[in-house]
Amino acid sequence: MRIRRFNPEKDKKPYWGNYTLKDCSPTDRVLELLHRVKWEQDGTLTLRRSCAQGICGSDAMRINGRNRLACKVLLQEFGDKPVIQVEPILGLKVIKDLVVDFEPFWEHYRSVLPYFINDSKPPVDSEGRERERLQTIAERERYDDTTKCILCACCTTSCPSFWANSEYVGPAAIVQAHRFIFDSRDQGTKQRLEVMADPAGVWRCRTIYNCTPACPRGIEVTRAIGEVKLAIQRGGRD
Ligand code: SF4
Ligand code: F3S
Ligand code: FES
Repeated sequence: MRIRRFNPEKDKKPYWGNYTLKDCSPTDRVLELLHRVKWEQDGTLTLRRSCAQGICGSDAMRINGRNRLACKVLLQEFGDKPVIQVEPILGLKVIKDLVVDFEPFWEHYRSVLPYFINDSKPPVDSEGRERERLQTIAERERYDDTTKCILCACCTTSCPSFWANSEYVGPAAIVQAHRFIFDSRDQGTKQRLEVMADPAGVWRCRTIYNCTPACPRGIEVTRAIGEVKLAIQRGGRD
């Protein structure tokens, strides 16, 4: 493995660390190999992970040039004598080794009001008990794809528009905005479309399409961005 190493407390600049692992199995995941490097060869190697099941989104990294979740990539992808190159995701400041500072990413996320907005009273049944706000299957389907986002940042940190200008809200935040803009029960569409129409918003997307293949959840990110652009032009979700 070639792993990009950097400890700002002692290194002047990043460098590549090379590590050889024996007795690997084709079904080992890159996350397990990184653990072996850390546990068997160099305990100072720093990485972030939690679930190891492709759910939490915390182990996004650049593996052989592509943004991936290390817990979802098997060694067998790389042939008989694999060399696996692992780097931190791009466009966010490196804190140490493979760990980057997510705060600018969360700032963009928070800016799109990623929560349900509806100040009206919920419906009540014949006995006066509060009930759910109902939707048709078609209404639910409009934003089904974007509910799958796990906020791993693979999309935003593979986007050249974001690399060029970190003010750009980025595809992950737009996916989150989409999830609420197209929810028929939500009343915050106008506010969110204003955020999206900002100079740092959705128009900074130049349809470069790196984001969609980078998404480990298979979300059609570029399509979602296109739908938000259309909603701005139409002045609403309908
Ligand atoms: Fe990750 Fe996909 Fe969500 Fe982007 S849209 S943050 S790649 S899950
Ligand atoms: Fe970037 Fe994806 Fe748009 S890569 S430019 S957000 S289509
Ligand atoms: Fe949670 Fe990989 S460790 S997604």
